[in-house]
Amino acid sequence: PYALAGRHFVKELDFTEEEFRGLVELAAELKAAKKAGTETQRLRGRNIALIFEKTSTRTRCAFEVAAADQGASTTYLDPSGSQMGHKESVKDTARVLGRMFHAIQYRGDSQEGVEELAAHAGVPVYNGLTDDWHPTQMLADVLTMTEHTDKPLRGIAFAYLGDARFNMGNSYLVTGALLGMDVRIVAPKDYWPAEEVVTRARELAVRSGARITLTDEVEHGVAGADFVATDVWVSMGEPKEVWDDRIAALGPYAVTMDVLRATGNADVKFLHCLPAFHDLGTKVGREIHERHGLESLEVTDEVFESAHSVVFDEAENRLHTIKAVLVATLA
Ligand code: CP
Ligand code: NVA
Repeated sequence: PYALAGRHFVKELDFTEEEFRGLVELAAELKAAKKAGTETQRLRGRNIALIFEKTSTRTRCAFEVAAADQGASTTYLDPSGSQMGHKESVKDTARVLGRMFHAIQYRGDSQEGVEELAAHAGVPVYNGLTDDWHPTQMLADVLTMTEHTDKPLRGIAFAYLGDARFNMGNSYLVTGALLGMDVRIVAPKDYWPAEEVVTRARELAVRSGARITLTDEVEHGVAGADFVATDVWVSMGEPKEVWDDRIAALGPYAVTMDVLRATGNADVKFLHCLPAFHDLGTKVGREIHERHGLESLEVTDEVFESAHSVVFDEAENRLHTIKAVLVATLA
């Protein structure tokens, strides 16, 4: 009964606006059913492999709990615990796991890797984050936006501040373009998405009516925004040495109360995929604090802990949206 039965979920560009919205709507239904205690299990007897070549809290837990809620089992392969990429090729791993599992989740650096897995597994493959895209995160962010505004998707304006050359920046630009939103990338020019990503977004915008803005001016970029989003300035897999340059380049793009005020929207909401450096109390954070004397990085603690912040709704929605992907492709 699901239009996406058997499909992969490896990047937003593989989906139509209707398909992507359909997943968000299914997630809202599954969320309501879980809260009401009326969820029905549609995935009994299914087995799902979870390959993580990078660490995770939300994505792993969302896949495991979503599968359990729906009656499916999961097998977690940790960043060092499988032969894949070390002793065995991605192609061979795909053909082995495809014989044992009904679906495979992959998190790692390489988009080519997850697409190679998808090409050879014979079962649906889901991208749980690569360097290029974070598509399951986009479903959660869009669901969260719909929960925190009365506007239709095509009426929503959002601004992403920070490193936009990586997974989150790319995914926000393309998702906003796909869904006809008013999407602004606010970053120094060197940190804008690659030209081919911008081109794809502009092509999508012709059909959807999206407005696309790339700017290095914070006040201009956030004016009128319903949502302001950011991400860490240094992503998983990048060397420690880049921190100094990132802090210098992206410091002016930190989300502060002044940035929220510059939207001119008293109800503006703040999004962050997490984890976030809103305080520097973690191990990595303390090193940065000692070196740079900063109290926070991409977002201040004041914004993060304010009533504008919907980051924990967003985190919870990883569960409901990942469940929607499983149900839509596997039930
Ligand atoms: N937002 C996100 O993907 O979080 P994890 O790295 O904890 O999975
Ligand atoms: N850009 C971040 C996102 C984490 C969910 C990273 O790749 O580490």
